[in-house]
Amino acid sequence: MAEHNSFTRAAEALHLSQPAVSIQVKQLETTVGLPLIERMGKKIYLTEAGVSIYKCAQTVSNQIDDTAEHIDGLKGMKRGRLKISVATTAGYFVTRMLAAFSDLYPDVAISLDVTNRESLLRQLDANEPDLIIMGEPPANTDLVSTAFMNNPLVVCAPPDHPITQETGLTMATLSGYTFVVREPGSGTRAAIERVFAAEGVDIHFAMEMTSNEAIKQAVQAGLGLGIVSQHTLELELDTGRLVLASIEGFPIVRQWYLVQRAGKQLSPIAKLFEQFVLEQKE
Ligand code: PGA
Repeated sequence: MAEHNSFTRAAEALHLSQPAVSIQVKQLETTVGLPLIERMGKKIYLTEAGVSIYKCAQTVSNQIDDTAEHIDGLKGMKRGRLKISVATTAGYFVTRMLAAFSDLYPDVAISLDVTNRESLLRQLDANEPDLIIMGEPPANTDLVSTAFMNNPLVVCAPPDHPITQETGLTMATLSGYTFVVREPGSGTRAAIERVFAAEGVDIHFAMEMTSNEAIKQAVQAGLGLGIVSQHTLELELDTGRLVLASIEGFPIVRQWYLVQRAGKQLSPIAKLFEQFVLEQKE
């Protein structure tokens, strides 16, 4: 009910009738001795007691699932849930990794959240996913981060852009061009700003966008040059819709990291996935 904000939708999800859900909520309220929900207009909200019971139910439900997985692991069964969250750019290669992992362990139910850095840090804090893949793990002693793959940042251009004819370009010469870049908060953007600041080069950001796909479209439309991870460009480079500009100092080579909270008890399935990812280490 708390997840659906509606008795009707909760009843559908639970395959129960709507009155059956209402009765159970009433019974729980009687046991607790306080209202758990309040209605404002047509909307339903959890009361403070409702939030507390909901959090407790979530913890218990996660513990039951974790225990079932652990028991399955002890029995040598390779099934259970795997909850992975990754940075937007990592979505380009992680799906392929998950497909290969799923071929090996077809009974594992995988959920993948592709999201921005801010949300990844919040999820780490709330200990939500089993594992996180990101590019800029904070230097935080509460986290364990293991680098496993290069993440090269490149400058891309449409094939008819004048920069493709230039030779001997350095980072400093890039101040004469305009760029379409990722939003503040993206790991790609943070790396770009860091590298150009270290070089003392001012570059002109014509536009910023929250999606690599949008940046590639904008670059193809002639809005500027793009600086993105090469992982995002496979199709465009293969089809010649975009080309890489040759500039001294590029690619900016960064790393992808597998990140978890220090001391986290990984489920047997999450351990298998961790091992699987680290086997791809370059
Ligand atoms: P992002 O990728 O730019 O999609 O956040 C993470 C990173 O490169 O650090």
